[in-house]
Amino acid sequence: MVGEIENNDELLNVENLTVRFPVKRGGLFGGKSYLYAVDDISFSIKRGETLAIVGESGSGKTTAALAVARLVKAFKGKVQLGEFDFLNLQDEELRKARAKVQFIFQDPYASLNPRLRAEAIVREPLDSLEAGLPSGRQGRVDQLFKSVGLRPEQQRLFPHQFSGGQRQRIGIARALSTQPELIICDEPVSALDVAVQAQILNLLRRLQKEMDLTYLFISHDLGVVQHMCDSVAVMYMGKIVEHADRKSLFNNPLHPYTSALLSAVPSVDKKRREATKRILIPGDPPDPIDPPKGCRFANRCPVAQKICNEKEPPLQSVGVDHKVACHLVDERAKSPLA
Ligand SMILES: Nc1ncnc2c1ncn2[C@@H]1O[C@H](COP(=O)(O)OP(=O)(O)OP(=O)(O)O)[C@@H](O)[C@H]1O
Ligand code: SF4
Ligand SMILES: [Mg+2]
Repeated sequence: MVGEIENNDELLNVENLTVRFPVKRGGLFGGKSYLYAVDDISFSIKRGETLAIVGESGSGKTTAALAVARLVKAFKGKVQLGEFDFLNLQDEELRKARAKVQFIFQDPYASLNPRLRAEAIVREPLDSLEAGLPSGRQGRVDQLFKSVGLRPEQQRLFPHQFSGGQRQRIGIARALSTQPELIICDEPVSALDVAVQAQILNLLRRLQKEMDLTYLFISHDLGVVQHMCDSVAVMYMGKIVEHADRKSLFNNPLHPYTSALLSAVPSVDKKRREATKRILIPGDPPDPIDPPKGCRFANRCPVAQKICNEKEPPLQSVGVDHKVACHLVDERAKSPLA
């Protein structure tokens, strides 16, 4: 757990976060049980840095982010946001703290009100948080449009009159309106063409530097985050299975699941491309309502052993900034696939 290390530069510290959803069991006598979409995860992010959360569909990335922002209820855990014990705030303090966290969503078209002009979309959070004097808000909107590379006259247009990339710029301007410190980017470029993806990623990087923003950046694609993050947490079935600084994760992936995700990233480096064999993971994850008692990856892991089906591997430190949950990795930090 990064949170074990005392660090005053941390903006966000998440401890033992757990989110569960009630699900009905089938059959006549089917009782209630729970799906643990996020199962006891801990991580932290330093001010001005980016933590990427990666993992395949259904691994719990969005639920974790929503719980951090209090948009879904955490069953357990603690979220420290700067000086705020965020999950326990109420009333005025909560209102103040909420302004510090904003979301950028995958599909800006679905997240922007189609009946509002771009100007009103960006201005809305300022009005609802009563940020500054109403007379000063237009100036702030003008400035935000400029910061994200939109022209002043585009303020009068409706969302459908923009391209996908421009719509995401509106979403970013809106997220920035309340001067947040933490921005949660949930697959912000997945719906965009590759060329536009690069523009939006560059914009996010520039804004991060200019405004000292901290990002929690969610993606199913390690390729997208490789130039974007300082550290990476890999999620599988609600758990963090590997957590490392960017260099360690990309140069020395230790969990077989991380290695498989990484082997799917096309490398620009020819040597690396030739050295990397594509690792295919067969099958699907097990039923999340009834996870296996051992390693959750065991039924798909190419190097699984007997112990993997018997005991759940804990997330353990194997280096300065490197943690992994795998029975076959010890402090020598050697990949079991090597
Ligand atoms: N409101 C809900 N009620 C019940 N189950 C839910 C709810 N929201 C999410 N889940 C379940 O929780 C698990 C994690 O979902 P989540 O959306 O967080 O995954 P994700 O990693 O963001 O996936 P994707 O890459 O597809 O966006 C899934 O099994 C999902 O079906
Ligand atoms: S604990 Fe076992 S099954 Fe799980 S990733 Fe490691 S080797 Fe594979
Ligand atoms: Mg998601």
